[in-house]
Order: sequence, then structure tokens, then C-alpha cells
Amino acid sequence: MATEQKPPMPASATGVGERPKKRSLLDRHGPIERNATLLLVLSFAVVTVGGAVEIAPLFYLENTIEDVEGMRPYSPLELAGRDIYVREGCYVCHSQMIRPMRDEVERYGHYSLAAESMYDHPFQWGSKRTGPDLARVGGRYSDDWHVAHLTDPQSVVPESVMPPYGFLTDVLIDGEHIAELMETHAMVGVPYTEEMLASAEADFRVQADPMGDWDGLVERYPGAPVSNPDGLPGVSEMDALVIYLQMLGTLVDFSTFTPDASR
Ligand code: HEC
Repeated sequence: MATEQKPPMPASATGVGERPKKRSLLDRHGPIERNATLLLVLSFAVVTVGGAVEIAPLFYLENTIEDVEGMRPYSPLELAGRDIYVREGCYVCHSQMIRPMRDEVERYGHYSLAAESMYDHPFQWGSKRTGPDLARVGGRYSDDWHVAHLTDPQSVVPESVMPPYGFLTDVLIDGEHIAELMETHAMVGVPYTEEMLASAEADFRVQADPMGDWDGLVERYPGAPVSNPDGLPGVSEMDALVIYLQMLGTLVDFSTFTPDASR
């Protein structure tokens, strides 16, 4: 019987002739990796410290939204139009948030800033786009186009699947409770002044009356569009909604806007 001989062990495995290695940091980590409970406890400690470092400073910041020139609260009629927008569920098909990606910015304009929706309660960012984003639709079409489009979308966009909202022209609104609505918004942080509240009802009416004395309105709400979109006497829900659409995304002047890099 031939006796099989084992091949000699390689020198490195025997340790013969080698100096003992210093224990590296990784070796010291071994016991932690082999003990699941210890690993869990230490992981938890690391995440707790990391989380506290990230979150704690936020409690001491008054505001995390960058100040942007041009932002102002909604005028009374714009606010009423916004309520109609919410009531009719326009947000079900339209977003109001342009993401900072090239395709969106090229189609809709400058990406949305946090400050642009800081007076929105509730915000209308949305995530569903059956129709296009409306964050910067203001000034893009004429009032007549909007009234025609809302009354019968297919009359101006034949392939449109948007439902008609012509009934809005038949409903007249008087702004009787608009000051209360503004006070409610003030309670959650919208800076409506006493003067704005006192002139709320008058401002509401005059924004849909280009022949009226709307100097005070435009002083209180710079850039507020003044017009009578449906061309009929009285303020209709159609007027309010179109005026709201016409001011969307127009408050910040992006030809001069530079992001604040200090934040
Ligand atoms: C069922 C989905 C749906 C609903 C609800 C809806 N829309 Fe639309 N909307 C669309 C579609 C689709 C388009 C694109 C075709 C067109 O222009 O009609 C569109 C287009 C628009 C446009 C033109 C935007 C642009 O940049 O060309 C405006 C403005 C608009 N909608 C406003 C509204 C308002 C205001 C409401 C609520 C009263 C509303 N939509 C409700 C689907 C909808």
C-alpha cells in the first residue's frame, strides 16, 4: 500500500518565520459583528446621534423657507378663486410644482420655489398630471382663452379630456365672508394686515372691475391682475377662478432672482 503524503503547508499558514501582525481596527470590529445584540445597540446609538445632529437645529430656526422678493399673500378675489380651484378638484388633474429637471423647466419655466407656496393652505403641489402643471400658467393665455377653455375645453383644444366648467359663469359671489376667510389664513401664519382685512370686501369687488378705483388694491397686492374675465356685470366664480389662474407663478421676477446660497 502506497502511503499518501500530505503536501507541505505553505509557510504563511504555519506562521513560521513571520512577525506577529498588529491587530487592525477591522479586527477589533469583529466582536461587534459576531454579537447581534451588541451590533443592534451600537447601530441604534449611532443613528440616534446622527438624527439628533440633523434634526435639532431645525427647532431653533425660525424659518426654513428662503425669503423671496415679490411674494405676497393672495388678494381677496385670488383667494376666493383658489377656493373654487380646490372645491372643483382641479388638483386631481393638475399639479402646481415644477421640479428642477430640465424637461420640466423647459416646458413650464423656472422650477418652483418653496416660498412660492408658503401662503398656500393647503398647498396644491399635487402629483397627478392628466393636464399640464399650472404653477406658472399666469399670463400665458388671455382671459378670453381661459373663459372659453373652462366653458368648453374642446372648443380651444380639440383633443382635450378636461371637463367643462361653464356653470361657474352663472354663480355670482359677493365676498361677504372673504374677510373671515382671510382671518383664518392669518391664524395659520399668512401676514394679512389690519388694513387688508378692513378693505377685503372692497378689494374683492374692485379686482373684477377694471373701471373701478383699484389703486389701493394694487398697492396692497402688487402685481394683482385687475379684469372682468367673463365680461358680465358682477363678480362670478368664473371671474375669481380666471383671476387666480392669471396670477399663478407671476409674483417672483425670475429675470433678477438668484438663489440664496447662504442657506
Ligand atoms: C379630468 C382631468 C382634468 C380636470 C379635473 C381639470 N383639468 Fe384642466 N386640463 C386637463 C387636460 C387634459 C388639459 C390639457 C388639454 C387642454 O388644454 O384642455 C388641461 C388644461 C388646462 C389648462 C391649460 C394649461 C396649459 O398650460 O395649456 C388650464 C389653465 C386648466 N386645465 C385649468 C383647469 C382648472 C382651473 C380646473 C378646475 C376647475 C381643471 N383644469 C380641471 C385635465 C383636467
